[in-house]
Amino acid sequence: MKNIVVTGGSGKAGRAVCRHLVEQGLNVLNVDTVPSSDPVCPFYRVDLTDRGQVMDALQWTGGRDHPFRSFATPDAVVHFAAIRAPDLAPEDVTFRNNMMSTYNVFDAAMRVGIRRVVWASSETTLGLPFTPDNPPAYAPVDEEHPMRPESAYALSKDLGEEMARQFHRWNPDSSFIGLRLSNVMEVQDYDRFASWQTDAAIRKWNLWGYIDARDCAQAVRRALQVDFVGADHFIIANADTVMEQTSAELMAEIFPDVPLRAAVPGHETLLSIDKARRVLGFAPEFSWRDGQTPGGGA
Ligand SMILES: NC(=O)c1ccc[n+]([C@@H]2O[C@H](COP(=O)([O-])OP(=O)(O)OC[C@H]3O[C@@H](n4cnc5c(N)ncnc54)[C@H](O)[C@@H]3O)[C@@H](O)[C@H]2O)c1
Repeated sequence: MKNIVVTGGSGKAGRAVCRHLVEQGLNVLNVDTVPSSDPVCPFYRVDLTDRGQVMDALQWTGGRDHPFRSFATPDAVVHFAAIRAPDLAPEDVTFRNNMMSTYNVFDAAMRVGIRRVVWASSETTLGLPFTPDNPPAYAPVDEEHPMRPESAYALSKDLGEEMARQFHRWNPDSSFIGLRLSNVMEVQDYDRFASWQTDAAIRKWNLWGYIDARDCAQAVRRALQVDFVGADHFIIANADTVMEQTSAELMAEIFPDVPLRAAVPGHETLLSIDKARRVLGFAPEFSWRDGQTPGGGA
C-alpha cells in the first residue's frame, strides 16, 4: 500500500486520516469538493456524485491536471466523503449524495483495478438515536445487532454495506472494509464533555460513544494493512465512554431493561470494538480523560 486516494479528506475525520497516512510515508490524494484546512497532501476538486469525475480522480494515469498522473493505479481508496449526519440536509439530498458517491467510488475503484476500499459506514445503522422507547436490543452493541436505520442518512450507510457485499461478489479478489464510526471528536471537542456529566440522558442516543479522529485514522491504516479479502464491517469507537459515570450505572439509569451481554467494567465502551480489535488489530490510543487541551494534544 503506497498510493492512496482519500475522499472527504477535507472533513473532520478525513483530515486526520490524510495527516496520519502522510506521516506513514504514503502518497495521499485528497478528493473533495472543498480544499482542506490542513493541506498535508495534494487536493483534487471532485463532485463524487458525478461518475466521470470519480473515474478521473481514481485513474492516476489520467488528465493533464491530475496531481498524481505519473502513478499507475492507486493501491486503495479510503471513502469518507458524505453528508455526515441526518438533519444537515433534506433526506433525499443526503440519500442521493451519499448513495451516488458511494456507488461511483465503489464502481470506479473496481473498474480501474483498485482492490481495497476502506470506507466510512456509521454507528447510526445500529438503530440510533437510542431512547427508552427505541432501545438497543442488548448491550454492548456489536456487529450482530440488527440493522435498524432510522434516517435516510443511516439508510444510505446500511445500503452502502449491502453494495459493498455485492461489489465484492462481482469482484471476488476485492476487499471492502466498512468502518461503522462512532461520533468523531477532535481534541477541541473534549471541552464540551464536562457539560454532559450532570445528565446521563444527553448522550444516551449513541450509548455515550465517541471516536477520537486520530484513532479513526489508526483504524483506517489498519484496515488498509490487514490481510483480508471480502466485505465486512466493524464498529469503531474509543475504548471508553464520554461519561464519568460507569457504563453499568448509565445502562441501569437509562436502559434498565436492556440486557447486558458482557461485563462492562468501569467506563468501558458500550459500542463493542472486540471485532475491530480481533480482526483489524485496532487499539485506541486516545481518550478524552487524558486531560488534553486544544493545541496541546498528545
Ligand atoms: N462525524 C461523525 O460523527 C461521523 C460518525 C459516523 C460516521 N461518519 C462518517 O464519516 C465520514 C467522515 O465524516 P466527517 O465527520 O469527516 O464529515 P465532514 O462533513 O467533516 O466531511 C465530509 C467531507 O465530504 C465531502 N463531501 C461530501 N459530499 C461530497 C461529494 N459529493 N463529493 C466530494 N466530496 C464530498 C465534504 O466536502 C466534506 O469535506 C462520513 O462518511 C460520515 O458519514 C461521521
